[in-house]
Amino acid sequence: MAKAHPPRSTTLLPAGKVGVAAAVERLEGGGLVAFPTETVYGLGADARNPEAVARIYAAKGRPRFNPLIAHVVDMEAATRLGFFGRRARALASAFWPGPLTIVVPAEAKSPVCDLARAGLESVAIRVPSHKVALEVLKAFGAPVAAPSANRSGHVSPTTAAHVLADLGAEVDLVLDGGACDVGVESTIVACLGGPARLLRPGGISRAAIEAVLGEPLQGPMLHEANAGDGEADAPLAPGMLSSHYAPNAQVRLDVREVKKGEALLAFGAPRPDGADKAAHVLDLSPTGDLVEAAAHLYAHLRALDATGVGTIAVAPIPAEGLGEAIRDRLARASAKR
Ligand code: TXA
Ligand code: MG
Repeated sequence: MAKAHPPRSTTLLPAGKVGVAAAVERLEGGGLVAFPTETVYGLGADARNPEAVARIYAAKGRPRFNPLIAHVVDMEAATRLGFFGRRARALASAFWPGPLTIVVPAEAKSPVCDLARAGLESVAIRVPSHKVALEVLKAFGAPVAAPSANRSGHVSPTTAAHVLADLGAEVDLVLDGGACDVGVESTIVACLGGPARLLRPGGISRAAIEAVLGEPLQGPMLHEANAGDGEADAPLAPGMLSSHYAPNAQVRLDVREVKKGEALLAFGAPRPDGADKAAHVLDLSPTGDLVEAAAHLYAHLRALDATGVGTIAVAPIPAEGLGEAIRDRLARASAKR
């Protein structure tokens, strides 16, 4: 995609009063601001401003327009963007602020521009719980469109340093709020009439959502719907291409035996056979805690990838709780590309 803007210099600021004020100023001017959320860092722009939103697509190198999540400060702001039926309301009151994105029908006068919604009649909305994100949203007073602050297809950033390494000069300002607590993206649930549908597993477990709804969640159909090159018909979460979150190394899953020279991404005990032969070892959670594992996932993938190994062998990770999201991201990281 042709870049409409000359290279600019990126400012890195700690997420204090000065940083938040600078972020608001940049957003008002149509700029791009990377900011911390509890899941991963977001690359934010004024969701009402199509030119600003276009810069997000250009900076990330998204191969095609793929709808963005509108971040707002609270439920009142959310209801100006979309229509919340019974299920969407129940989920919002149970999990907001927090790592849940709800896809609802867009309000006719929704201020979120068409480009941010990629022309869809629905809109994805999230109220993050991170203090800095909420401060920015409150001070800005309007929805902020924000995908993860990585180049399209790369691993999502969980620190300010990851953002700088990946997007560098494409961003006007990076607010440094330390490492993200949750470490994987938000769970995305569509409430578009009829039973709710899981579009992307993430920071809130399927079981927790089903407990609130009192009924099973449909989906996800991610692997089926987005098989191959991601050129499938109208996938529900269009961004969920099968090859995503990709490190340079090959990724081998559910490994029972590590081969010589591979790096090992471990998950507590017992370690797979041959772990002592691994070129490098990082443990997602020495105690086998899935919440801790999610928080370390992307940083550990990046660190092992940076060693230049050919293959990252990943120990088996159970599919319950946050394990569903972790396994989903690892499956994408291992997909052919
Ligand atoms: O945790 C997160 O959700 C992070 C932080 C920054 O909030 N954001 C994030 O955004 O992961 P992104 O763009 O990397 O992923 C958003 C996903 C994409 O797969 C996109 O296709 C899907 O949400 N999406 C957005 N709007 C949608 C809609 N109206 N219907 C279905 N899927 C939608
Ligand atoms: Mg992303």
